[in-house]
Amino acid sequence: MIALGCDHGGYNLICAIKKYLDEKKIPYKEFGAFGTESVDYPVYAYTVAKAVVSGECEYGILCCGTGIGISIAANKVKGIRAAVVTNEFCAEMTRRHNHANILCMGGRITSEEDAVRYADIFLNTPEEGDRHDKRVAMITAIEEGTFEA
Ligand code: RB5
Repeated sequence: MIALGCDHGGYNLICAIKKYLDEKKIPYKEFGAFGTESVDYPVYAYTVAKAVVSGECEYGILCCGTGIGISIAANKVKGIRAAVVTNEFCAEMTRRHNHANILCMGGRITSEEDAVRYADIFLNTPEEGDRHDKRVAMITAIEEGTFEA
């Protein structure tokens, strides 16, 4: 299950992502927003992030104007690694190396076609272990206040 969220700036991308998920028969849950009326992106970042950390959804996709605000908000939720992606390489590497669990994109930055391509890469790329497991564990320790440099 994929959790989907956006604000008005990312609504077009979420619509394109939904079409892609429908075509691939990948189940998703929509958390809003449901139109282009101005809304506050932290609301959608929070509800999608909670759906991911609770285990209700495996991954999240969040879109705002730039992808930045909604990623900053999502990353405040413990256990979230939300990555702003603007190219194919980042879509792949943030899964392989950062074990990202939320993909963030910007409707004023990225075309619908590219967003679908990045989502496809993100959802189909596995996490790499070894040194990357260790580094992600360090991120978690920072989050939990137990990290020592
Ligand atoms: C909304 O105008 C805009 O600030 C928002 O979509 C996003 O780009 C924030 O980072």
